[in-house]
Amino acid sequence: MLNEIVQPLISWYRQNKRILPWRDQKNAYYTWVSEIMLQQTRVEAVKPYFLRFIGELPDVKALAECPEEKLMKLWEGLGYYNRVRNMQNAAQTVVSEYSGILPASYEELLALKGIGSYTAGAIASIAYDIPVPAVDGNVLRVFSRITEDRQDIMKQSVRRQVEEKLLEIMPKEAPGDFNQALMELGAVVCVPNGPARCTECPIAEFCRAYHHGTVDELPVKAPK
Ligand code: ADE
Repeated sequence: MLNEIVQPLISWYRQNKRILPWRDQKNAYYTWVSEIMLQQTRVEAVKPYFLRFIGELPDVKALAECPEEKLMKLWEGLGYYNRVRNMQNAAQTVVSEYSGILPASYEELLALKGIGSYTAGAIASIAYDIPVPAVDGNVLRVFSRITEDRQDIMKQSVRRQVEEKLLEIMPKEAPGDFNQALMELGAVVCVPNGPARCTECPIAEFCRAYHHGTVDELPVKAPK
């Protein structure tokens, strides 16, 4: 049963999670900035950008008021400048409509510019302990292997199925750790290619792809 993964996965995460600057304290702004940066860049490369960014712009209000030129300089090297422009637009909304505090609501987060279902789920669960899923490519890969699901992970309908099944087994007292455990597993153990690191996996015994020797066939990603 899928719910058997929950306890071993969370215990593994709590013992093995990487020390990252945005994990030091619960701060929705830090979660937001880090998740947007991580959409395009690896963790190690993000660290110095993140620290400089929050050093210069410590909260939503500072981001909302930052001059364009300074904002672009802070993002230089990360690429996809629209992401930071959207972030500033959203920050201005948060200042005018929520007194500068990111709303503790999945739907209200989702309504902000540049915040999609993954980012809204990550902020809501990690910073505010709201039980909602946060499904990115890492999580889709992990899930497709555990359940040996050969459906195309590029399909929105498949993502929604995964979100639904994860919500069913999510421990309601630890949604942030549960979501981050899945992301972390995908980032450091259940990696996309190269030799699988299944001997290090805390949930290999529950993984259908592991038992059937099909780990490297999954996930299925149909070309667009
Ligand atoms: N990749 C993107 N966000 C992450 C997170 N919160 N933890 C681990 N890997 C991630």
